[in-house]
Amino acid sequence: MADAEGNIEAKNYAVDVAAKNGGPNVKGAENLDWGVKARLWRIFDTASGNTLMLAFDHGYIMGPTSGLERIDLSIVPLIKYADCIMCTRGVLRSVIPPSCKTPVALRFSAGSTILTELNDETLVGIEDAIKLDAAAIAPMVAIGSEFEAKTIANLARCADFTAKYGIPTLGVTAVGKNLARDARYLGLATRVCAENGATFVKTYYCDEGFERVVAGCPVPIVVAGGKKLPENEALELAYKAISSGARGVDMGRNIFQSENPEAMIQAVGAVVHRGMKPAEAFELYRDLSAR
Ligand code: 5RP
Repeated sequence: MADAEGNIEAKNYAVDVAAKNGGPNVKGAENLDWGVKARLWRIFDTASGNTLMLAFDHGYIMGPTSGLERIDLSIVPLIKYADCIMCTRGVLRSVIPPSCKTPVALRFSAGSTILTELNDETLVGIEDAIKLDAAAIAPMVAIGSEFEAKTIANLARCADFTAKYGIPTLGVTAVGKNLARDARYLGLATRVCAENGATFVKTYYCDEGFERVVAGCPVPIVVAGGKKLPENEALELAYKAISSGARGVDMGRNIFQSENPEAMIQAVGAVVHRGMKPAEAFELYRDLSAR
């Protein structure tokens, strides 16, 4: 029972000090609820404001992708370097240790494989995302594809889940075989995701006009790595994306298909969080690889 008498008198009201409410915000999250913001701050580093997401959901489309044959051996040792992991619920349940403290962006749509074009995606149940303690749900959005309307409707449903359950939505822009990865297309795709309620958006980097893509998107953009590049080029891509305003990377193949994934993820982290220049980050990669 609470004591009504004999308590120490409350007197530290600091009447001269303005109240400190709120704290920093992720871009576009100013008006969102506490739970969404708290989950975003599990994903984005509070010091740099950026995130290093490690994506290894490729198997849901590509099957046993090179570097992901044995996720227990290749990916689990990398998780400690990531701010967030992105994977399917199948791999999360079967391989990822629940003791891992890293937040999960749960791949939240399914329906395509590499044997078909971008397909008629369906969503995972939100109850399962809640059960799995997802820090974000990530549906694919295929702007310009035959299934555009279906994937935008999926995104809109995810945004409803975000509003209802406080789990951020990561809109994942997928680029079909016939679409150009230029600023015009990426600007359209990312903006459409944000307008339909994505809390943050994953897209591709383009050399020409990426600043405009970022400026036109009212929520943070994280950049996918794409196909495997030589390590120095992948570090340069990460650097250019961050310098152009991306708030992080959601990188897969350029980390787990690297000659030395553990060195590579640390070098990418130095770019993302410390703004390390690509040449220096490549040196770091080589130093760490030599140990
Ligand atoms: C697959 C994805 C991947 O997570 C994404 O493409 C990131 O991986 P990579 O850096 O290998 O491109 O969304 O649908």
